[in-house]
Amino acid sequence: MNLAESGEKRAPAAGNVPGRKPLFVVLEGPDASGKTTQLKLLSQELTQRGIPHITTREPGSTQVGEALRRVLLDPKQQIRPLTELLLMVADRHEHVEGVIRPALAAGKWVLCSRYTMSSLAYQGHGRGLDLALIRELNRLATGGLEPDYVFLLDLPPQEAYRRTQMRDRFEGEGLTFFTQVRAGYLELIRNLPRGYLIDATAPPHEICREILARLPLSG
Ligand code: TYD
Repeated sequence: MNLAESGEKRAPAAGNVPGRKPLFVVLEGPDASGKTTQLKLLSQELTQRGIPHITTREPGSTQVGEALRRVLLDPKQQIRPLTELLLMVADRHEHVEGVIRPALAAGKWVLCSRYTMSSLAYQGHGRGLDLALIRELNRLATGGLEPDYVFLLDLPPQEAYRRTQMRDRFEGEGLTFFTQVRAGYLELIRNLPRGYLIDATAPPHEICREILARLPLSG
């Protein structure tokens, strides 16, 4: 996906309910759970409704963020868990201040692949770092900006593992890591108001319909 690929060019903002603030929608889930596909499908739906929006992702989506992403995903790098966390939240700060807040301020919805919950699931439940510390760093990085909706595209760990292509540092982790991350995700989404669990083994258009059904869309 391009840097903060924009969905704004097309129709006027007819689909936005007047007076309602633009929404910040996050997709979470393991690698290869179909987040990128869903971002595209959702973006098409919003475009059809004339809702101005951007699609974006973490890590990456800013100049500094793309450099951090290259380091973070490079299988040749050996990175300590705390370093990994600090780089993820550094990326997040750039992303929030440089991309997400400006888009929301301009009245655009933000559709984002991965956000604070990824750090809790991967660096917390996966790597074993302290969850309270991660929450604190997330707060610092985001200035407290919370998503309006989080959709967890859930896959059984074996399926997530099977689908990964071992191309990056995270995908090279073993099944145990995927199992821990998934358990973390399930716990996190259960405790999140406006957090929804979605079965990612369903066909893409069905998943998209499920997500759309939960969003406050006019028309
Ligand atoms: P990415 O390749 O964009 O995810 P996907 O393969 O699902 O499209 O994400 C890169 C990796 O970064 C992914 O394996 C999860 C990991 N990650 C973390 O460990 N912590 C984080 O806070 C974020 C944002 C990502």
